[in-house]
Amino acid sequence: MPVVPTKDIVDRAFEERYGVAAINVVNDLTMEAVLAAAEELRAPLIVQTSVKTVKSIGADVVFAMWTEMTRHLSVPVALHLDHCPEREVISLCLEKGWNSVLFDGSKLTVEENTRQTLEVVEEARGYGALVEGEIEPFKRVEEMGADERENEQALATALEFIRTTGVDVYAPAIGNAHGMYTAAPKLDNQRVTDIVEATGVPVALHGGTGMTPDQFSDLIARGCAKVNISTALKIRFMQSGYDYITDHPTEYDPPKLFAHQRAAVVDMAKDHIRLFGGEGRAW
Ligand code: 13P
Repeated sequence: MPVVPTKDIVDRAFEERYGVAAINVVNDLTMEAVLAAAEELRAPLIVQTSVKTVKSIGADVVFAMWTEMTRHLSVPVALHLDHCPEREVISLCLEKGWNSVLFDGSKLTVEENTRQTLEVVEEARGYGALVEGEIEPFKRVEEMGADERENEQALATALEFIRTTGVDVYAPAIGNAHGMYTAAPKLDNQRVTDIVEATGVPVALHGGTGMTPDQFSDLIARGCAKVNISTALKIRFMQSGYDYITDHPTEYDPPKLFAHQRAAVVDMAKDHIRLFGGEGRAW
């Protein structure tokens, strides 16, 4: 059975101190491509869908694609709903069979976020699903100002949230952001160690695109067992399509374009899986 609980994938990576690539896909082509990369490298993988992707394709179709595309696999994989502030979308995905969700209550007060995350944890337990939690809204790279850390809560607040809610994975803001960094970000790696030592809960590293290999290996060693990548996939998917069309302006043969994009996305996924130490970790 290739589809396994997300907790099995994350906990094993946490114990063995490697990172599981958690890659956001945008359609059928990219979902198939990242799964093929995991199969080729014998690596566990988390496939992530944004709320936007779920809404644009439809939860039924996304899940039908997932079921068909994972049927023949021999490596452990799980389907995760990324940053979702909408409780009805959380419930819908859990009901359909997603293996985990990130309830994004970061725009709520910590008190209200805690209350709602507790409810999500209880709901998810009924499906054997994992819950990731967060209290600090992640910025986009373009929004990072002079005070890159202004969105951070006190460490004690984060620890209290993790302990009270019982989340399985925690996503802290450590100076990371979504999008493409213009320079290597300055990251508070000590925050990861503090959280892991105090709670024993694995950490999800957000804003992975553009971090350096040294940053990844340091943070993974400290307990970032789930490493999120989204922008890198979007760039490779779109840039490879743009390049192909530029080189073949009158070809009008979509399957050839798609094959080119698929190869680019497979390479991108393999690069990240290797970088995080996931190759050969399938069981
Ligand atoms: P990037 O888009 O920077 O890779 O971040 C991905 C992410 O954290 C998704 O939640």
